[in-house]
Amino acid sequence: MERGKKLAALVLLALFAGFLAYTASVTPTQPLPAPIPPAAQLPLPPGPDLLAPKPVRFTQSSQCIDCHSQIYAEWRKDQHATSWSEEIFRSFSINYTKDECLSCHAPKPMLEVGLTNAPVLRDANRSDGVDCITCHQLNGQSHGTLGSKAVCGGIFKEELKTSQACYHCHATHNLFKEYLASEYPARGVTCQDCHMEKVTRRVADGGPVRVTRRHVFHNGGHDVEGLKKALALAMAAKDGKLTVTVTNIGAGHGVPGEINNRVVRLEVSVQVGKGKKTEDGREVDDVDEVQAHEAIFRAPPRLARDKVPSTQILPGQPRVLEYALPVPRGRVVATLTYKLEASSLNDDATLMGRWQIDF
Ligand code: HEC
Ligand code: HEC
Ligand code: HEC
Ligand code: HEC
Ligand code: HEC
Repeated sequence: MERGKKLAALVLLALFAGFLAYTASVTPTQPLPAPIPPAAQLPLPPGPDLLAPKPVRFTQSSQCIDCHSQIYAEWRKDQHATSWSEEIFRSFSINYTKDECLSCHAPKPMLEVGLTNAPVLRDANRSDGVDCITCHQLNGQSHGTLGSKAVCGGIFKEELKTSQACYHCHATHNLFKEYLASEYPARGVTCQDCHMEKVTRRVADGGPVRVTRRHVFHNGGHDVEGLKKALALAMAAKDGKLTVTVTNIGAGHGVPGEINNRVVRLEVSVQVGKGKKTEDGREVDDVDEVQAHEAIFRAPPRLARDKVPSTQILPGQPRVLEYALPVPRGRVVATLTYKLEASSLNDDATLMGRWQIDF
């Protein structure tokens, strides 16, 4: 009986030891199943992020008034703003039916089309002509020379600081070639330097004061003061010969400008009588014109550029005219006048200057 109990205990002990040996040999090498991730860590299915702010696209000049009121007011009165709506363009483009005329007068954003590519006509808001959007926007965002990262875009675009900003529409005529051949680029003088006056003021209402530029593109053919700065005239009378020298001292390209409608006219009048005194010492009013000369300075017509020579006066260049004097003593009066539209009888000429010498 005693031996039977001992045997049973031994068997139980052996079974227990075997079990221990079995668990010790198996458990640690068994791979653990991958943990089940909590629901929050699962990737979301693709879709709109409803919390992100909606990007504002600026696609119309009227959207700029609220923050750039001064610039907007200047541009509104500028030739660029009226380039489509003005009567002269409406009539010359035969009521907007001449397709080849339209692209530059209401162009798509030039940064979108490419500054050195030909302008492309846009579909909307044509009556705004060359507008804020044309010169500044790309994908509805404003590009400029500050890199301000402002609400409207504020993206830096180096080219807007340079004459390249004007190339897009003003390059088709000879104006750009004339500018590049002049001494102005080497002196670092850009189109903006002469046509967009520097001013110190706020660029955006409520923003910081900066040195910036006006959006009155002054010194063009419509600006009387600009026209007066463009040309200088000198006269000399010697040995029966009159020399008249007209020099382009103020424009970075030919004068008159790129379109053939513009005309500068020089009139030279040789007079006698002036300077004589009556017996009681009064000056004689009576002047006899003994000789009159006229010279016309003008770009060749667009379609005959290869055949008709240009008589424009190039930047920095003198134009010398010589005439034989018909009398030994007298006075010469020279005037330079400018016409925007040569063929129009109603277009009054602008006086660019009047000079005189006695000989
Ligand atoms: C490649 C661009 C371009 C094309 C194409 C173009 N123009 Fe112009 N146009 C200009 C530029 C730039 C000026 C301003 C230049 C100047 O004043 O000398 C201008 C000025 C004018 C003016 C003078 C406006 C004024 O107030 O005195 C008239 C008119 C005009 N264009 C009519 C036309 C007609 C008509 C056509 C088609 C035959 C035409 N344009 C095609 C760019 C263009
Ligand atoms: C014919 C092209 C042209 C048009 C049209 C035009 N701009 Fe500009 N604008 C420029 C150029 C070029 C400069 C940079 C001048 C510089 O400082 O060299 C400039 C400068 C500016 C600046 C100053 C900040 C900067 O980047 O230098 C603001 C703001 C601006 N323009 C807004 C406008 C608004 C608003 C309109 C319409 C109301 C407009 N512009 C119309 C060409 C244009
Ligand atoms: C809600 C106000 C607001 C509106 C609307 C707005 N702008 Fe601006 N814009 C600003 C501010 C602010 C600046 C930064 C001015 C600064 O730093 O001096 C700026 C800067 C600019 C600049 C300079 C870009 C650069 O390099 O940083 C240009 C160009 C410009 N705006 C053009 C426009 C045009 C074009 C429109 C209309 C289509 C427009 N903005 C509408 C507020 C506005
Ligand atoms: C997207 C086309 C375009 C760009 C870019 C452009 N212009 Fe013009 N510009 C025109 C058109 C078109 C006219 C003619 C407006 C009209 O019909 O009266 C004009 C007219 C002008 C005039 C007025 C001429 C006059 O008769 O008094 C001046 C000055 C001028 N531009 C200078 C510039 C300068 C400087 C730049 C560069 C900063 C520039 N423009 C950029 C299209 C452009
Ligand atoms: C040194 C100053 C100066 C520079 C640089 C200059 N201009 Fe002019 N620009 C003038 C003056 C002055 C006039 C007026 C005389 C005239 O119309 O012929 C004028 C006239 C114009 C006109 C009007 C022509 C017309 O027929 O009505 C346009 C357009 C023009 N410039 C565009 C430009 C462009 C684009 C550039 C750069 C490539 C430029 N200018 C560079 C001084 C300058």
